[in-house]
Amino acid sequence: MDIEWEITLSEPVIISNWNHGKQAVTTGIGILRKGGSALDAVEAGICSVEDDPETHSVGTGGIPNIEGVVELDASIMIGNTHQSGAVTGLVMTKNPISVARKVMELCPHVMLSGEGALHFARACGFEYYEPLTPWAKDRWEALRKLLFSAMKNEISFSQFTAKVGYNIEPEKIASALELLIKSGEIREAGTVGTLCLDANGMIVAGTSTSGLPIHLPGRVADSSVIGAGTFASESGAASSTGIGEYVIRHTLSRKACDYIEEGSSPTEACEKALLQMLKRENVPHFIGLIALNRNGNVGGACISNEAHQFTFQYQRLSDGDMHEVTANPVKLKS
Ligand code: GLY
Repeated sequence: MDIEWEITLSEPVIISNWNHGKQAVTTGIGILRKGGSALDAVEAGICSVEDDPETHSVGTGGIPNIEGVVELDASIMIGNTHQSGAVTGLVMTKNPISVARKVMELCPHVMLSGEGALHFARACGFEYYEPLTPWAKDRWEALRKLLFSAMKNEISFSQFTAKVGYNIEPEKIASALELLIKSGEIREAGTVGTLCLDANGMIVAGTSTSGLPIHLPGRVADSSVIGAGTFASESGAASSTGIGEYVIRHTLSRKACDYIEEGSSPTEACEKALLQMLKRENVPHFIGLIALNRNGNVGGACISNEAHQFTFQYQRLSDGDMHEVTANPVKLKS
């Protein structure tokens, strides 16, 4: 793959969301230190989180869909060239972000889904791997019981347990799922989002998730949708986290990058993108955004209540310190 753009000398920086993002930052900065590119740093950083069984919303250890299958979504984008790759509904594979990178580098397409993504991964040499851990299986069983109770016994448990995604009226599951998200019972709608600017001015964004726990089979998470969960341009990069349906409807990462292009700082850009969404739709759930610009400034913002703090961290190659930030929640002025 040819990657060419106007090289500008920049101060390298890498940023990632949530506490687990520290691992991505540490791994990514190690890559930059050895002379690796922003693309290598983002991929390796996200892989380190995908490989951690204690992170229950990404890769290994992720909570399965309603049928017990861990479906993985990821995307990656180079802002300077707009090259991008994504996979959705990828099963039995270790590192969806690396498969997404291969889609970007080897495919004439931007996004592969389900079986096609799996065949492509195997053709690229990604081996069979079961990301489901015993902890995630137990959590899945507990969540399924909660979902069943939330459906107020409208169906029998045997109906519920057999291929539940297909033989129950979808709206019954949907409203029960919504109830569990609103009540905070489903908490793990997280992602790992990682953004990097390297010394040559290359700007890269990547995001990975195992999706909303016990989602309907085939649900597409925002993390695999270019423009929604992940976006990068010549001016900056952004990654979103939280309930992906809102992020997709409002193409949040793209919006944040547009605001950066118009001159907003990364924090202002995230705040403006979230506020614009709030003006158009009531958002009763958590949503977080992080961003960086071509000058190496970083920032983030969220929609949240006090119970849900959104943290991110970043490291510059020059000082080597891990900077931890708690993002300010945005609210519409009443
Ligand atoms: N943002 C992750 C998801 O909605 O699945």
